[in-house]
Amino acid sequence: MAFPSAPSALWSVSLLTVLFAAAVHTTVVYDDDPLQPVTSDETVSVGGTVTLTCRVAESDNSSLQWSNTAQQTLYFGEKRALRDNRIQLHRSTSTELSITIGDVQLSDEGEYTCSIFTMPVRTARATVTVLGVPGKPQISGFESPVPEGGKVTLTCTSTGSKPPARLRWYREDQELEGRPDIVEGVVDDPTYNVSKELTLEVSRSDDNALITCAVDHPSLAPGDKRSEQTLRVLYSPNVLIVPESNLPREGEKFHLQCLGNGNPEPANYMWEKKDGELPPLAKPDGAFLRFDMLNKSDNGVYLCHADNGIGNSQGEYTLLVQDPTAMSTSSGVDHAVIGGVVAVIVFILLCLLIVLGRYLIRHKGTYLTHEAKGSDDAPDADTAIINAEGGHSGAEDKKEYFI
Ligand SMILES: *[C@@H]1O[C@H](CO)[C@@H](O)[C@H](O)[C@H]1NC(C)=O
Ligand SMILES: *[C@@H]1O[C@H](CO)[C@@H](O)[C@H](O)[C@H]1NC(C)=O
Ligand SMILES: *[C@@H]1O[C@H](CO)[C@@H](O)[C@H](O)[C@H]1NC(C)=O
Repeated sequence: MAFPSAPSALWSVSLLTVLFAAAVHTTVVYDDDPLQPVTSDETVSVGGTVTLTCRVAESDNSSLQWSNTAQQTLYFGEKRALRDNRIQLHRSTSTELSITIGDVQLSDEGEYTCSIFTMPVRTARATVTVLGVPGKPQISGFESPVPEGGKVTLTCTSTGSKPPARLRWYREDQELEGRPDIVEGVVDDPTYNVSKELTLEVSRSDDNALITCAVDHPSLAPGDKRSEQTLRVLYSPNVLIVPESNLPREGEKFHLQCLGNGNPEPANYMWEKKDGELPPLAKPDGAFLRFDMLNKSDNGVYLCHADNGIGNSQGEYTLLVQDPTAMSTSSGVDHAVIGGVVAVIVFILLCLLIVLGRYLIRHKGTYLTHEAKGSDDAPDADTAIINAEGGHSGAEDKKEYFI
């Protein structure tokens, strides 16, 4: 299934923002004060790992320090200050202090501070944004098959996203317009539950159609999380009668089959002959009407009625019993076609034989008479043959080929 790629416009915008911010920081800060620490804002998904990096352009050997959103010191140089195994030293040099925070939680979001203990103390802040990863979407609203023409309202729900996820509906590969997303949040939970409804008026072509709900979120690759629901639609039969053969001949065994083409398949079929009784040798057998021995008196229009509880429908078949010796008109056509094809093939073969024969005779004669002449000074065998044959006879041979 194809999912649209992550909104690239958004990507470029955020990239630009990052570059712009970095540029502003870098130029302003490094130009003014080589001791000013520089940090960058980070975005991380719940459960992920984020690296916080703090750098100075030059060092006077003063220690760098990272502290958390509650102003607790995490690392002072390479010395751990807070007992939290999720927080580790990544790199400590005179000009850089980097730390990692693993298994990030929503509560880790906020402003972190890097300080360098020069006189006066210089600081830089880094904002960590934590994304709430949406749960696998759940589709509800489809419990049992729906009659054709009826409406189905499906609801797709995904919990725990931050920022709120976007939901999309698809039928096979085609995106469908659903109602706008409903975003629910509560005061002391930074994540959102998102739901989106889709109402479909179903037709028989929707039977077995695959409906998909997919989640769009910056913490996910497109198509990462989705759920599927197969629609089942009940529809009335559309009866078609199929004969055992296209050439019912007198005296033969024969049957008609009634195809219900409904959902569910009709359980009961009723056979009838228009303007009369079913012939005594015609026996209804469910979807079949069996003739033990065809007789011209069986000619007529046969009807099959089928009802599957959703609706009913009837089909017609006109039986025309042929003589026992009859050749099928359709197979007569086949014979004519086969005969024509065979005739054409024979004709082409004959032409080829004649052309080949004449060419061989001519070629052999030329070869015998002019064997040595002209081929002596030829650079290769091909040229030798052309030389030996001479331009005139070569052209004649060619002409004969196209007869
Ligand atoms: C920093 O410390 C190193 C030795 O630890 C010393 O060689 C260097 O001169 C110091 N730099 C400054 C700017 O104080
Ligand atoms: C989201 O749904 C979950 C499970 O149904 C529920 O526990 C939670 O309170 C909901 N959160 C919000 C913000 O509505
Ligand atoms: C067809 O039926 C008629 C009478 O209904 C009977 O006389 C005749 O012999 C039958 N023909 C065949 C080929 O069975």
